[in-house]
Amino acid sequence: MKTSRTLFRIPAAVGVFPLILAVASCSRGGSAQKSAVSPDAGEAGDAENAEGGCNTVPAAGSSLALGSPLPDLGFAGDGDSGIVSIGSFAQPCASNAQLLVLRVVAGWCGTCRWHSSNTATLLPADVASQVRIVDLLLANDINQLALSADLASYQAHGDGSVAALADSAFSLAPFFDPRPALPLYLIVDARTLTPVLALSNPAPDTVTAAFRQTLAQLDGQPSPAPVAPVKYDDRFTSDQWDMIRDMQLTQPPPPDPSNHVADDPGAAALGLTFFETFKLSPQQVGCRSCHNPALLLTDGKEVPPEGAKPATRNVPSIVLAGYRKLLGWAGIADSLWMLAVLPVELDFEYASTRLFAAHAIFANYRAEYEAIFGQMPPLDDTTRFPATGMPGTPEWEAMAPADQDAVTRVLVNMGKSLAAFLRSLRVTESPLDAYASGQLDALTAQQKDGLLAFFTAGCAQCHYGPRLTDGSFHNLRFPTGRQDHTADPGRSDGIPFLLASEFRQTGKYSDAIPATPPIDPIVTPNLVGAFKTPDLRGVAFTLPFGHGGTYGGLTSVIEAHRTAGLPAGSTLTMGEAERFLVSFDPTLEPAIITFLDALRLDMVNPPP
Ligand code: HEC
Ligand code: HEC
Repeated sequence: MKTSRTLFRIPAAVGVFPLILAVASCSRGGSAQKSAVSPDAGEAGDAENAEGGCNTVPAAGSSLALGSPLPDLGFAGDGDSGIVSIGSFAQPCASNAQLLVLRVVAGWCGTCRWHSSNTATLLPADVASQVRIVDLLLANDINQLALSADLASYQAHGDGSVAALADSAFSLAPFFDPRPALPLYLIVDARTLTPVLALSNPAPDTVTAAFRQTLAQLDGQPSPAPVAPVKYDDRFTSDQWDMIRDMQLTQPPPPDPSNHVADDPGAAALGLTFFETFKLSPQQVGCRSCHNPALLLTDGKEVPPEGAKPATRNVPSIVLAGYRKLLGWAGIADSLWMLAVLPVELDFEYASTRLFAAHAIFANYRAEYEAIFGQMPPLDDTTRFPATGMPGTPEWEAMAPADQDAVTRVLVNMGKSLAAFLRSLRVTESPLDAYASGQLDALTAQQKDGLLAFFTAGCAQCHYGPRLTDGSFHNLRFPTGRQDHTADPGRSDGIPFLLASEFRQTGKYSDAIPATPPIDPIVTPNLVGAFKTPDLRGVAFTLPFGHGGTYGGLTSVIEAHRTAGLPAGSTLTMGEAERFLVSFDPTLEPAIITFLDALRLDMVNPPP
């Protein structure tokens, strides 16, 4: 590829159309040739009159519209290729029709991942040589606007057959509805660089048929006869059916090398003790105060009143917390043990200190602790270990650094035991699991219609896989849960919190730094006011909903997706709504709710 195209550095922003254009080599003329072309229409060659003069690209247009040549767009390539101009994909001299397919995708998007990893099936032999697909990446898997550095990991999800370029500006937006479902396909006549068709999350059969028909049309051939699309269980297209099968929850939580007791039953038993106790907090608060086993480990309240101070966010179910990579609504922790450490010192939870908690463990659970983690520091020496204190308090700052470290390790080991306990929880098979494993009568007809509606309404972009989540962050403009009604910045506060923490997976309290340590997250504008996509397993039983707990039922929270949350100007939220929330037909809502009911679960081994 790189040898047959010439790359020019041009600004990536839409609306900037410099006079120097990239020029493709002539496919008939032998060696590559370059020439500068004025964007002034009429001066440049095009495929129609390419006879003998086929070493120029078509003139750049100035508007983004079907049927008019593309402007001189540029997209960020990987490290070596810098900015790649759209002109470098032109094939002005091709003797038969050639398509350039710009496929707009995001790293977090489940439907996009299906298309990227099944590109080969979308390109059967009769079209493969005439269609070139280029993925334009908008954002990475945690919804940071895409940089060149994100291209390799996106391509790792795919089947490796297509080039990927970064387009964080979503240059092709004018071709699509304001709130389309990803992936998007812009089919371009590569000889004239003129877009001819735009599709939003098309079925695989539709994509292949569109390629065949467009090629025939451009070559003046009769349109090929339409092929009847394959439907699974009389409803689902092949991509949907694959995604349904991927919704089965069959595996235990993935390993966590940063916690050496992650799967140790003794540590899990100690973790249960810590989960149940109220002794680690001077306010008599415990994990169980807010994570009630009878309510799938939530508290059923909007925001928890059980802590030492009013909280600001809804209590998520933590039955499946062992599966999550980033924890908390804003992704403040990169391991489960790190998240389990935090409640001790947060003022809306225990409002305790690590010294207070370490003393309580020493006094009440010393033997159990030492059986797993070895000797505790001599906490009975109260001159070295004051009764209470944490970083920032005078008692703590006066301590010897080695003693501080020893106390922090007690807190960390408490977190690692709690994580072992939460990782040991298992859930019952849901009707969806049975259906996805091939038991076609496990869902009712209404639930199947609901599952289809779930795809139609664009839900599966973000809610997919075994827990029906992308694990990413999106702004849905849901109302704040803060009692003073100020908007909650969500992810844009969560990132600096995580980066400043001593408890990261890459820090000194981690038992093993991951082989490929995660790249430090960054705040991009779309993450202001963004929150983590919740799991949907068991969702019908964990109301109320949303990060602020402001939606009392499934109907209202689904309706809030449809309308993209609070309108512009509301002070209860901030930032811009995710643009890939589909404005679907509201009559789909009852069916979707019926489907969500099929995600019911129970804990197999609930805490007593
Ligand atoms: C005062 C109520 C309260 C107490 C006590 C409490 N939690 Fe939570 N928990 C919450 C709230 C609220 C959140 C969401 C906070 C956020 O994301 O900002 C949460 C989040 C979590 C999460 C992250 C879940 C996810 O979706 O990623 C885990 C895990 C968790 N808590 C475990 C615990 C453990 C273990 C304890 C005891 C050490 C505990 N919690 C004590 C209220 C509480
Ligand atoms: C762009 C990604 C995205 C899409 C598409 C999407 N969701 Fe969500 N969903 C989220 C995020 C993010 C939240 C949490 C937002 C918040 O609280 O601020 C959420 C919250 C929810 C909740 C509340 C769960 C809870 O525990 O609070 C439900 C239910 C839900 N979504 C269902 C759906 C359905 C049904 C669809 C399709 C109509 C859908 N979602 C489409 C990202 C998405």
